[in-house]
Amino acid sequence: MQSAWQWVLSVATGKSYDDVAVKRDALDKRVQSYTSKFDASLNQKWDQSIDEKYVAERKAKAQDMTNAYYDIATDFYEYGWGQSFHFASRYEGEAFKASLARHEHYLALKLQLKEGEKCIDIGCGVGGPLREIARFSRAHVTGLNNNEYQVGRAKKLNARAGLSDYSDVVKADFMNLPFEPSTFDKAYAIEATCHAPDRTGCFRQIYNVLKEDGIFAGYEWTMTDRYDSTNAQHNQLKHGIEIGNSLPTLTHYSDIIRHLEAAGFEVIEHFDLADVEVNGAIPWYSTFLGSYVALSQFPHTKFGRFCTNSMCTVMETIGLAPKGTTETAKLLGETGTAIAESGKAGIFTPMYMFVCRKPKAGETRKLTSQAASSSPKGTTGSKKNKNKSK
Ligand SMILES: C[S@@+](CC[C@H](N)C(=O)[O-])C[C@H]1O[C@@H](n2cnc3c(N)ncnc32)[C@H](O)[C@@H]1O
Repeated sequence: MQSAWQWVLSVATGKSYDDVAVKRDALDKRVQSYTSKFDASLNQKWDQSIDEKYVAERKAKAQDMTNAYYDIATDFYEYGWGQSFHFASRYEGEAFKASLARHEHYLALKLQLKEGEKCIDIGCGVGGPLREIARFSRAHVTGLNNNEYQVGRAKKLNARAGLSDYSDVVKADFMNLPFEPSTFDKAYAIEATCHAPDRTGCFRQIYNVLKEDGIFAGYEWTMTDRYDSTNAQHNQLKHGIEIGNSLPTLTHYSDIIRHLEAAGFEVIEHFDLADVEVNGAIPWYSTFLGSYVALSQFPHTKFGRFCTNSMCTVMETIGLAPKGTTETAKLLGETGTAIAESGKAGIFTPMYMFVCRKPKAGETRKLTSQAASSSPKGTTGSKKNKNKSK
């Protein structure tokens, strides 16, 4: 049975037999180690005092928790989503992969990334964005990631893509970067610093390794102005996102700006990209919306989730899939629903864009309260959360 399972995995992901993050008999334990950091009952009945206790524990054990999460989730991500582990809005006629690449190109544009520059990708996953951005800009991009399995995947995929001269991958914690001060011209983070137990601490690390006048830009997972922290349903959705994505806790976008400034950056602009996409954009969360009509969205319906979970249970029972597979599928399925509902309600965004700069020595930086927080011209979104600083 073990070799049958390995065969299924290698066919599904296109990887070799032994290229897995967690050995078959260790999966269940790894899943339990991850889920123990959350109280699943909060998804049904919100209780602030319980949540606060768990948030403190998740912050204290952020790195262990996140490594356990990506050990169990990476193969699902690669198989179900691709090599870029982030969201993007899409346009009619635009292929899914093209929309992800456009999202990455937009970030490179905001970074003004040029050929020959040295750039760091904070929390690089298996390197999908890194490869696209290196090819697009011809800058040298260093991927930084603390998950051993993902680092191995990223290195292999970079070599296979012929990008060894334009990239490297370093295994380290973004709370403690192993580079000399002023090493990089540019830095970016795509949907990664939401895992940080202390945002100011993480941003300060990035600030230190950037050269003066260097730009740091990224897409953050944040709550929006529509989120009401006294609304139990909002909090249940928020918790549903946290539990399925290894997040210590989600926070309002204004906190991100505050943390960037506390780390020493000057914030040049910040806005919710989901809010200012040009007309005709298919919302970023649409992939997770259930539909009995569109085949690709069927797995996200209640019945579709029931089918997936039942199939995993059968595979586990007959010994084809290892114990822990069903729980992982359930975890990812349920968080998909929480993400889609939060996106639809406009209380959460995975693409709060910030662009900031490390001031030159002796320069007086503008703080956000005075800085123009502009959005791209020619866009016609609803602008429901645009550019408010708290
Ligand atoms: C949602 S994934 C995004 C990956 C990548 N940016 C992309 O878009 O494909 C978040 C990434 O952050 C990494 N990460 C989380 N905590 C980290 C830490 N403390 N140090 C370094 N990387 C971390 C994870 O291992 C994962 O690769």
